[in-house]
Amino acid sequence: MKYLILGAKGQLGLEWTKYLQSHQIPYLATDRDELDITEQQAVEDCLNQFKPDVVLNCVAYTNVDGAETETDANERLNHTAPGLVAKLCEAHRITFVHYSTDYVFSGKITDKQVYPDGYPVDAPVSPVNQYGAAKLRGEQAVQAAGENHLIIRIAWLCSAYGKNFLKTMLRLGQEKPKLSIVNDQFGSPTFTFDVVDATAAILASGQRGVFHLTSEGMYTWFDFANAIFKASDITVKTEGVDSSAYPMVAKRPAFSKLDNSRFKAVAGGKTYQMEQGIRRVLDELNKQS
Ligand SMILES: NC(=O)c1ccc[n+]([C@@H]2O[C@H](COP(=O)([O-])OP(=O)(O)OC[C@H]3O[C@@H](n4cnc5c(N)ncnc54)[C@H](OP(=O)(O)O)[C@@H]3O)[C@@H](O)[C@H]2O)c1
Repeated sequence: MKYLILGAKGQLGLEWTKYLQSHQIPYLATDRDELDITEQQAVEDCLNQFKPDVVLNCVAYTNVDGAETETDANERLNHTAPGLVAKLCEAHRITFVHYSTDYVFSGKITDKQVYPDGYPVDAPVSPVNQYGAAKLRGEQAVQAAGENHLIIRIAWLCSAYGKNFLKTMLRLGQEKPKLSIVNDQFGSPTFTFDVVDATAAILASGQRGVFHLTSEGMYTWFDFANAIFKASDITVKTEGVDSSAYPMVAKRPAFSKLDNSRFKAVAGGKTYQMEQGIRRVLDELNKQS
């Protein structure tokens, strides 16, 4: 099996590169400079030359607030390009792995009672911001291209790479004596190494379609931050505040926990825990320094 990574310098792309390299699995890692996924001919040429069995689409426009105004980039990277690459993969009989987001759901706080285990894969979608809307159109374009794809929705993505909430908290926790953290948005983080492990398990199962993947449990950003400080022995005072204290450009869902049942059913009940994810990122950051 040969893998082509798109967006290999992003958080998830770097994790895939590390995994395929350490497992001695043949792969080609590309990012914008080597292969711009908005250029159809370049993508087609790469598929013809490298002949991958699986394409891993780790590209996205991930600036949720920026997406409200940078509508062109949001649309191209989150909707049009994935649809186009999915079509090419279908024509070449290549499995297309696409990553999406919890932000395809409306995240009404009342849904927390309706879906106590999180949104199942077939729950109605209704994004509340431009990023979520373009990611949803991207999912639909991938689905319209054919059957041979995975769409894996993940949330609050964290890793030892790039920018993410965990790394921001480590920095702020060392810089400031006290932090106010949003305590009225509910979800659960996904760690990049768990995404790679889960994707490999789903691919091996032969199942296709939509999957959800997060750590077990439900947390607020405040809970998540406190778990990060506990694991890293950082002493900082924290207080939970309402999201109204931090007005953002883009609206955020108040509840975006994803139900992992479909994944667990194909992966023998496998689960991922937030505390373990945090510890592993901390270990990796320690090794980097
Ligand atoms: N980050 C989160 O919190 C989060 C949450 C839920 C779901 N997700 C989903 O998870 C997936 C991975 O996210 P991530 O955080 O790993 O993304 P990321 O770190 O932003 O990485 C995206 C990569 O794609 C590259 N790229 C941009 N335009 C490109 C183009 N035209 N052709 C080729 N490469 C291009 C970027 O390069 P530049 O840096 O040069 O632009 C970057 O290296 C995405 O589908 C995202 O929607 C993320």
